[in-house]
Amino acid sequence: MKESIRKISTDAIHGGSNRDQYGSLITPIYNTSTYIFDSTAQGAARFALEEPGYIYPRIGSPTCNDLEDILARLEGGEAGLVTATGMGAITATIWTMINGGEEIIADKTLYGCTFEFFRHHLSRFGVTVHFIEMSDENELRAALNEKTKIVYLETPANPNLKIIDIEKTAKIAHEFNPEIRVIADNTFASPALQRPLELGCDIVLHSCTKYINGHGDVLAGAVISDQETINNIRLVGIKDMTGAVLAPNEAFLVARGLKTLEIRMQRHCESAMKVAEYLKSNEKVEKVFYPGLEHHEGHDIAAKQMCGFGGVVSFVVKGGREKAAIVTDNVKVASLAVSLGAAETLIEHPASMTHSPLSDKELIAADIQPGLIRLSVGLENVEDIVDDLKQAFEKI
Ligand SMILES: Cc1ncc(COP(=O)(O)O)c(C=O)c1O
Repeated sequence: MKESIRKISTDAIHGGSNRDQYGSLITPIYNTSTYIFDSTAQGAARFALEEPGYIYPRIGSPTCNDLEDILARLEGGEAGLVTATGMGAITATIWTMINGGEEIIADKTLYGCTFEFFRHHLSRFGVTVHFIEMSDENELRAALNEKTKIVYLETPANPNLKIIDIEKTAKIAHEFNPEIRVIADNTFASPALQRPLELGCDIVLHSCTKYINGHGDVLAGAVISDQETINNIRLVGIKDMTGAVLAPNEAFLVARGLKTLEIRMQRHCESAMKVAEYLKSNEKVEKVFYPGLEHHEGHDIAAKQMCGFGGVVSFVVKGGREKAAIVTDNVKVASLAVSLGAAETLIEHPASMTHSPLSDKELIAADIQPGLIRLSVGLENVEDIVDDLKQAFEKI
């Protein structure tokens, strides 16, 4: 492993640049639906982006900008943009960059709604998406062509924790054409465990609903990249195409949650490893997916590019969907719910829930077995989490 969890606490706590006129320790919630200009000339200068300052909160606001500065710093990017949801970040980014007739190459394992957007909706606008096994460099090389605009991946991927070598993928794509934008959804790792921009990616996306906020009480998303790309996504993808702007109340909660990201990720990783080891020893479990386990296909790459293996463990229950449902229906400490990265342990059945938009054939193609369960290991006492799983397995 590269090192223990990255020491990001100081930036996560002090990283914002806004200090209000009262010297508030914490950036306040600036709830306003517009900003007053001193003169028409000033308004014109702001709209022309010739004078810094706020115009209208769909384009930017102090509470959100503060969070954007922190996230940019944590990911090692020039600039950040926060959005209403993770899907808001994904769609605003893609709509800004893609044109009809162009192509995206995406890994075949993605969050269900991202897959749905790529597979069933972008195609309506003349965009072709090739789903490939991104960890096979021959497949990637074969899919690259003069129409390729974006290479898109998740690592660890939702829901089976597949690992993709970010550095290698970005290198192959950029060698083919430096203009291709390599985009990584870093939701499962968070910047405490992985920084895709340092590994050659052009854009990092987040569902801040998960670890970045970490408290299960907010929907939010983020994009981090160079300043020009962020300006474009803000003015096209957010302002004109989706309107998926984050509300200042939500930005305040995310900034508060972010302060404890480092210590939360440390605990999530430690507990997930213990849960994965327990599941590995359970004879009712067919397979455990956790990048921290040495048998995991992506273990060596994860150890190279991550500073911890994350808080999500997935596993296949012997006997398929029916037996898996006995486990998910009988947990007591864990909650049967989608989402992840909260203090509470959450358990779900991807084929019925997060990945239900996929047909049976698409599920198989994405390596999502019918008996697969996804467990977001929370911050409770890990012995209670393991005991809870034990008693649920006894019901089989
Ligand atoms: C990897 C990943 N990306 C994006 C999203 C979408 O995020 P949101 O629910 O905040 O729109 C999710 C949601 O589960 C996710 O798991």
